Amino acid sequence: MKIAMIGTGYVGLVSGVCFSDFGHEVICVDKDPRKIEMLTRGEVPIYEPGLDVLMAKNVAAGRLSFTQDLAAAVEGAEAVFIAVGTPTRRGDGHADLTYVMAAAEEIAAAMSGYTVVVTKSTVPVGTNSAVERTIRNARPDADFDVASNPEFLREGAAIDDFMRPDRVVVGVTSDRGRDIMGEVYRPLFLREFPVIYTDLETAEMIKYAANAFLATKITFINEIARLCEKVGADVKEVARGMGLDGRIGNKFLHAGPGYGGSCFPKDTQALARMGQDHAVPMQITETVIKVNDEIKRRMIDKIVDLCDGSVNGKVVVVLGVTFKPNTDDMRDAPSLTIVPALVGAGAKVRVVDPQGAREGTLLLPGVNWMDDAYKAAQKADCLVLLTEWNEFRALDLKRLAKKMASPRMADLRNIYNAKDAEKAGFEGYTSVGR
Ligand SMILES: NC(=O)c1ccc[n+]([C@@H]2O[C@H](COP(=O)([O-])OP(=O)(O)OC[C@H]3O[C@@H](n4cnc5c(N)ncnc54)[C@H](O)[C@@H]3O)[C@@H](O)[C@H]2O)c1
Repeated sequence: MKIAMIGTGYVGLVSGVCFSDFGHEVICVDKDPRKIEMLTRGEVPIYEPGLDVLMAKNVAAGRLSFTQDLAAAVEGAEAVFIAVGTPTRRGDGHADLTYVMAAAEEIAAAMSGYTVVVTKSTVPVGTNSAVERTIRNARPDADFDVASNPEFLREGAAIDDFMRPDRVVVGVTSDRGRDIMGEVYRPLFLREFPVIYTDLETAEMIKYAANAFLATKITFINEIARLCEKVGADVKEVARGMGLDGRIGNKFLHAGPGYGGSCFPKDTQALARMGQDHAVPMQITETVIKVNDEIKRRMIDKIVDLCDGSVNGKVVVVLGVTFKPNTDDMRDAPSLTIVPALVGAGAKVRVVDPQGAREGTLLLPGVNWMDDAYKAAQKADCLVLLTEWNEFRALDLKRLAKKMASPRMADLRNIYNAKDAEKAGFEGYTSVGR
């Protein structure tokens, strides 16, 4: 089957590589010449574990290629996926559909033969119908269907998520469209991963409802964490006690510095706007957004309190700035709130992150990037564990404490505990909800 993937970012590239690994012939398109040049040279523009090897394998097999030429990729493709960005629209919180609609117009101009135009980007309910209208207006003669196929992969585990999904959601309007989508996902269907066929609106809504629910779960435990601190309970044990209940489940119950990343912040906002547009306010989601913002800011107070009320002139080492481990993605990371606040308060901030520097250098001005936690700890006043990369999960606390001027740690991911930190020589230790 011939597939064109429009937009070769985190989702488009992973999807394109995995579809080619299914055996399909995939052409990935991006309008960013730098990305296409890198990909054509065999370099992966993002950090995603395992992607380089799988990409090289499928390029070598002749099933995967990259181009800036959308028209050439779309012509003759049976399925054309739209995987462009849908960031928050400036000023009002709506999802910005400029890229999706522009892609739809370009696709309309290039389509030949029966084509299914599939939106993989996360888009508000009604967008797939708008895509259909746009193409129909531009090309009344075209033989096509639209389909909604929201993506649920997690950065850092994207290939496994794509190859072994909890479910695949497909919104379609015709049997022909459904058959093509069935062909695209045949290898997963054969391995009995659940494929849900539904209408366009339901597919679109599933994605927002799922993301808003997960953001709510995280924010719920973060709020409980705050109460735990006041009443002397341990949120880690509370979460374990809750999570063992099969109705609740233990995922997304880790208290921390608030959610961030390329999806939850923008998708919760877009859902809230959708609710307002239809006079059905998403009150829970709106509260989640507000509470999450407060949680991020509360982390700054925690660090300042740990430093006896001021970070001015103090050396603060921040371990991890990407929004989660195993990605280089910095979009809406909690670090973008916390680190500038520390710099603004006069701290000398040193940052260590295995992959964060490429994007982070521009986003976090005024910090000193270092490549090793122990070197960064030299004569430092405070250590902030912000993103739990594996290499920060088993730090030699004694060695760190010895190097620091005044050993204190704000463990915002609850990796260590007060007793061990004290034993290792830390004078101050704080975490979340304990
Ligand atoms: N990143 C994730 O973890 C994730 C997970 C699930 C769903 N999503 C959704 O997937 C969509 C894409 O997200 P992403 O993180 O991959 O975005 P991204 O910003 O990494 O990639 C988007 C790419 O599309 C390209 N592009 C834009 N317009 C184009 C056009 N007309 N022609 C060709 N290329 C074009 C851009 O240059 C960019 O490289 C979003 O709607 C997002 O919400 C993302």
